[in-house]
Amino acid sequence: MKQRCLLGLIAVSMAVPALAGKMPIVLDDKPAFIERLVERMTLQEKVGQLRLISIGADMPRERLAEELAAGNIGGTFNSVTRRDNRPLQDAALRSRLQIPIFFAYDVVHGHRTIFPIGLGLASTWDMQAVATAGRVSAIEASADGLDMTFAPMVDIARDPRWGRTSEGFGEDPYLVSEIARTMVQAYQGESLREPDSLMASVKHFALYGAVEGGRDYNVVDMSSLRMHQDYLPPYRAAIDAGAGAVMVALNTINGVPASANRWLLRDLLRDDWGFSGVTISDHGTISELLRHGVAADGREAAKLAIEAGLDMSMADSLYGQHLAELVQAGDVPMQVVDQAVREVLGAKYDLGLFHDPYRRIGQASEDPPEVNAESRLHRQAARDVARQSLVLLENRNAVLPLEKTGTVALVGPLADSHIDMLGSWSAGGVATQTVTLRQAMQHALGDQGRLIHARGANITDDAQMVEYLNFLNWDNPEVVQDPRPADEMIAEAVAAAVQADVIVAAVGESRGMSHESSSRTTLQIPASQQALLRALKETGKPLVLVLMNGRPLNLGWAQANADAILETWFSGTEGGHAIADVLFGDYNPSGKLPISFPRSVGQIPTYYNHPRLGRPFVEGNPGNYTSQYFEEKNGPLYPFGYGLSYTKFSLSAPQLSRASLARGESLDVSVTLKNVGEHEGATVVQLYISDLSASVVRPVKQLKAFRKIRLAAGEQRQVGFRIDENDLKFFNAQLQQVAEAGAFEVQVGLDSQAVQTQRFELR
Ligand code: BGC
Repeated sequence: MKQRCLLGLIAVSMAVPALAGKMPIVLDDKPAFIERLVERMTLQEKVGQLRLISIGADMPRERLAEELAAGNIGGTFNSVTRRDNRPLQDAALRSRLQIPIFFAYDVVHGHRTIFPIGLGLASTWDMQAVATAGRVSAIEASADGLDMTFAPMVDIARDPRWGRTSEGFGEDPYLVSEIARTMVQAYQGESLREPDSLMASVKHFALYGAVEGGRDYNVVDMSSLRMHQDYLPPYRAAIDAGAGAVMVALNTINGVPASANRWLLRDLLRDDWGFSGVTISDHGTISELLRHGVAADGREAAKLAIEAGLDMSMADSLYGQHLAELVQAGDVPMQVVDQAVREVLGAKYDLGLFHDPYRRIGQASEDPPEVNAESRLHRQAARDVARQSLVLLENRNAVLPLEKTGTVALVGPLADSHIDMLGSWSAGGVATQTVTLRQAMQHALGDQGRLIHARGANITDDAQMVEYLNFLNWDNPEVVQDPRPADEMIAEAVAAAVQADVIVAAVGESRGMSHESSSRTTLQIPASQQALLRALKETGKPLVLVLMNGRPLNLGWAQANADAILETWFSGTEGGHAIADVLFGDYNPSGKLPISFPRSVGQIPTYYNHPRLGRPFVEGNPGNYTSQYFEEKNGPLYPFGYGLSYTKFSLSAPQLSRASLARGESLDVSVTLKNVGEHEGATVVQLYISDLSASVVRPVKQLKAFRKIRLAAGEQRQVGFRIDENDLKFFNAQLQQVAEAGAFEVQVGLDSQAVQTQRFELR
């Protein structure tokens, strides 16, 4: 292999002989190495580095080798095994300058082992669990020859109609930022150069979660204050944690598409935030500048994007077609292209690819004989994380946990669906390797109890919806309809229910319903499943809902009628076992919602940290001329931070170490958490701060700290938080980060609504 990768290898400080006749390139000085390389590149080779090719979609594999050998490609994505990637790297190393390519993929919540979707990971409120998901993903993906992941996805989502709500970590800037930082560190490991590290490409920069009406790809129009306060912090956190790459979003921001947005990509990202990595367009966004109507033709679109600071084009031919000519014509300065090339080469350098282009691809003799071998999965880690991601929303009369000796009727279209366990963006996950709820419950019951299974309903009976959901995958449709009439399926489920002690109904969305471009106008469980639930309710048997879905749903009926509700999102390879662990009490649920659940679609947005109003609605004191919807109860059905346990916790009022805080000082908040129930369990103590008077309108409260605590039955613990001036800072009208003197309120609780408060002053 050595002779095929001359630029790197052997010794870090050696001179690279590839460029005979010129000054040798020394590898151990990154800036000098990159500078010397750029000097030797032709314009065509430079443009080549700026092209990220989607395997299959952009170019057939046969042509790829030719283009790689000509130095026309900087990286690829969607080629996902060492065996597939090796010949591509071989071809790249046949190019004149032997510059290696990198291999990227959407490793969003797992690679071969699939962890819960983003909302599920966020529901753990446990950074150790989040780190496990990220680290295992990096280990598995790098072992498949991958260098970069298009993750973490940290778009704040406050409109659950948006299908990509599922991918992100919810509505709160602080929680999402904590997860963003943890994910980047977990993917990238100690050093990006390690063979089991993946470069994180944080996405979608920026504000993609705020698309108008929750309709995908729609416009974003937002004040600077809101951007800085609510939507930008998670990207910043990822970048401060060292994310090597940034993916540029598909949306416009205040009239300018992100991919042509110089303010976004130069002023904010580079100048203010000091980002020094590579920017990558989202799929085809440079061409979309034409459809946005800000570029008259492809040439202008390429010019706008490169000048705005978009280094690499993904699945887009315009850089390849126009950049060289734009430079030759003097319409784009060579320095602009050179700088973009430096960023791409810098990423490859950081990934260790110049040192060894086969760093993650390895030797053919060491390729796994079977990429999907069971031995390559991390099932225990997936089960541990998935158990923590489940949120218990209701549990009347302690119907849960269930006895393992009884008879359970398991119904619903999601009870035995392998594919849906994976959730969207399931990377190299294989549906048949997932454990369904049916399999897991059967396993847990063994021969002590009895499980009667009936499907009961299809996901939906709406043929058009099924057609949409199967659109991308006609050969292997994801939503497979049971051809029996709905009545017959319901009758079978009811017959199962009447023989049972309890009904467990696995209902919600198919995974495609919460995905890119899957925006919805309603948050209802589809009608076919609602009809099933109503019929089950009539049997009078205890009804436990196991929800699988990728967004907050409208759970009004469920709340009024179900005995227990367990929100499980899409919980991954070991999801079935994790859910069964909770249903049968082998694990006490500890998840908390990372996003508010509205009562109806008309109430959106329902986020907890709303700016203060002049005429706020006050619960229990309705009346005209307050900010409310008059025909239904106001406020969320389930608030941010909410989630029950099989045990009960009590929390004391917060004690403050001082009532007045000077700059430079800190203040300690302490509360006593006690497990007053009968089971060991974990909960999340949440600390919110409310700024009572400031120069701009502030949110009613903001999460500032949280701690997940596990206690034995009867155990109590003092939980401490430290606050200083930094926790009180916000963006003022001039967009300066300041902490203004005045009164603040500390609020501590086990969710965002049921809080106890104390006041203090900042002097
Ligand atoms: C998505 C990105 C994704 C890219 C590559 C786009 O459609 O918006 O999130 O990383 O495709 O698969």
